[in-house]
Amino acid sequence: MDKHFYITTPIYYPSAKPHMGHAYSSIIADFFARFKRIDGYEVHFLTGTDEHGLKIQRSAESKKIEVQKFCDEISKTFKNLSTTLNLSNTDFIRTTEKRHIDSVKEIWKILEKNKSIYLSKYSGWYSISDEAFYNEDEIENSNGEKIAKQSKSKVEWIEEESYFFNLSKWQDKLLEHYEKNPDFISPQSKRNEVISFVKSGLKDLSISRKSFSWGIKVPNDPNHVIYVWLDALTNYISALNFPNVNNKLYKKFWPANIHLIGKDILRFHAVYWPAFLMAANLNLPQKIYGHGWILSGDEKMSKSKGNILDPIEIVKNYGIDPLRYYLIKEISFGNDGSISKKQLENCINSDLANNFGNLCQRVTAFCEKNCNGKIPNNIEFNSNDLKLLDNFSKNVGNIRNEINNQNINFYIDFIVNALFDANKYFNDEEPWNRKNDLKRLNTIVYTTFEVIRKICIMLYPIIPESSLRALKIFDLKENDIIFSSITDHNKLKPGDKINKIEILFKKIEKND
Ligand code: MSP
Repeated sequence: MDKHFYITTPIYYPSAKPHMGHAYSSIIADFFARFKRIDGYEVHFLTGTDEHGLKIQRSAESKKIEVQKFCDEISKTFKNLSTTLNLSNTDFIRTTEKRHIDSVKEIWKILEKNKSIYLSKYSGWYSISDEAFYNEDEIENSNGEKIAKQSKSKVEWIEEESYFFNLSKWQDKLLEHYEKNPDFISPQSKRNEVISFVKSGLKDLSISRKSFSWGIKVPNDPNHVIYVWLDALTNYISALNFPNVNNKLYKKFWPANIHLIGKDILRFHAVYWPAFLMAANLNLPQKIYGHGWILSGDEKMSKSKGNILDPIEIVKNYGIDPLRYYLIKEISFGNDGSISKKQLENCINSDLANNFGNLCQRVTAFCEKNCNGKIPNNIEFNSNDLKLLDNFSKNVGNIRNEINNQNINFYIDFIVNALFDANKYFNDEEPWNRKNDLKRLNTIVYTTFEVIRKICIMLYPIIPESSLRALKIFDLKENDIIFSSITDHNKLKPGDKINKIEILFKKIEKND
């Protein structure tokens, strides 16, 4: 296969309870991975856990568990989360794995060889919660404490010997890269933020710490551990067997097509990471996409704020596909959005149960009764039928383009409209009043089935399990889900038996 696509989620700081923000990043990445796969790409989809640094060391200490053991346990919860969310990731990397440690040491050595690293002394503000250094103008006072303006997390003053990366040297090269590659940072608003940050002047970056030990040791200076972000970012190439740049994975998949991240970690990905890569003479990823936050009220959902909606509990109560559908449809991609049980229930009832599930049930039941439970033959499309069917073939190029620009909302709106049109078509054509014109009756059923098939294919990246359940009507399996086949109007074979399926989505009774 010569079409390759590499997408990554951020690797997660393992915490005992993953929250909706974590689920969001992963589900969106899975959507793209699945779409590209059904569009004929070989996809590498990476997720994992980011296990070094003072934050993790302190969490383990507070629980009186040996750090590695703590990471082993907690990394497992994220691996399990991938299963709960039905992610189709092809790899799960842990930064405590040997393959990653070797890769980070190697990138350090390359940076050192290329004279991008020097030893000096760091003094400044540091947030353990963000594992980030802040300038004086990025912090503020709050109840007698110093906090970072953006994340509101506590900062502390540190002074210690540290290795530095010569970030300032890369300022102009970074700006040039942003200029030449207008899509490198998306969406545009995030691009503007990054550009103005870089233009305001980059200082060299402290990339080692001496006052704690939980990290990858600096080659030839074991008193220092490597800064957790230099460590973590390198995961994207460790998973491709870096430093062996001649191996198949690296050759196929680097540079990555997209690093999907939350907007809070944009600076690390859009400034530090490309600068590290430039300094190491490695190619830069094609795109960094900073999505919005999942809010609870108007605050970011986060463990420290105690306002978490637990994705695992939601999946237990509602199923994974409703959650995936909600997050993909109801959050305008690139912006912040919110989720509540009530919003989720409305979405299940109106979109999934009424518009999609009901259409599948209705047409199948009608076909059972009136077409011997077989895909009808003796068909002749009229302009109404063709209008409905052609909508897909006409838009196939559009859909691909919009997906390449991460316009998820275009994609889902297309499906919602197609479902609306299909329901309307079936109602308006009234096949139940065409029993004297079997050709017309058959054609209406056939056309609606074809549209259901196309819609199921498009729904697969969003709600894979339900799409596959619905495709059982036609005995179609995962291998039959090929995006380009939405252009075909005659895929279903007349005479083939159709299968009755269980209700796809149960309506949720509400008291209000
Ligand atoms: N370990 C770093 C990432 C290293 S990548 C080389 C990290 N981990 S995290 O667990 O704190 O966050 C992982 C991802 O979840 C980030 O993209 C972050 O933006 C996202 N989210 C965390 N809370 C979020 C919301 N409330 N809403 C949406 N996404 C947010 O950062």
